[in-house]
Amino acid sequence: MDFHFTVDWFQSTAQATWDQLIPQIDPTRLLEVGSYEGASACYLVQRLAATKPIELYCVDTWEGGIEHQEATIGMAGVEARFDHNLGVARAAVAHPVELVKLKGRSDLVLASLLAEGKAGHFDFVYIDGSHQAPDVLCDAVLGFRLLRVGGVLVFDDYLWHEHAIPDSDPLRCPKPAIDAFANLYFRKLSILRAPLYQLYAQKLSD
Ligand SMILES: C[S@@+](CC[C@H](N)C(=O)[O-])C[C@H]1O[C@@H](n2cnc3c(N)ncnc32)[C@H](O)[C@@H]1O
Repeated sequence: MDFHFTVDWFQSTAQATWDQLIPQIDPTRLLEVGSYEGASACYLVQRLAATKPIELYCVDTWEGGIEHQEATIGMAGVEARFDHNLGVARAAVAHPVELVKLKGRSDLVLASLLAEGKAGHFDFVYIDGSHQAPDVLCDAVLGFRLLRVGGVLVFDDYLWHEHAIPDSDPLRCPKPAIDAFANLYFRKLSILRAPLYQLYAQKLSD
């Protein structure tokens, strides 16, 4: 297929686990925070819309995170590749994909979805936006509200940190936020057994 990807983050870290996990969860209503060029979103379209219609909400500023700005990535090109790649993926599957592209900061967008009455709407929420701990905590709390009981919340980059900066601020990574969220919500979550680079949690109750 004529995909335009310039990075292989999804394929190199998550895809092998998702090959096992996604057919078991078999979600229909999906929310992704952080889409970039659409690698994870295209994977979900190809795996799921081969057998049934799906809804996929993709939230991104398409401005990059702090780490992207420092690497001076051309984010207009990234967004154009997202549009192209999702077009290719949707054209290739048998069933309709209702793609809702929401461009903006995840805190504002997720709060708007809640205000529209979408609490408990999603079967699958994937958090892969900002990697700053305070932002990840906000995405986790709002994403949890948007997830239905029984649905699965996935955090990317649980073990990610900035290799190049030895003395970097320890809050410039997702792990402290994911740990804080998992601790505070432990009565409402079941952590799924899976390789640890990502963290997978099933929602047990509101
Ligand atoms: C690691 S990339 C996502 C990768 C994508 N899931 C994939 O598999 O290829 C992180 C994305 O989060 C976006 N982002 C960073 N901070 C954000 C925020 N506060 N709100 C919304 N999106 C944000 C960036 O623009 C970037 O595109």
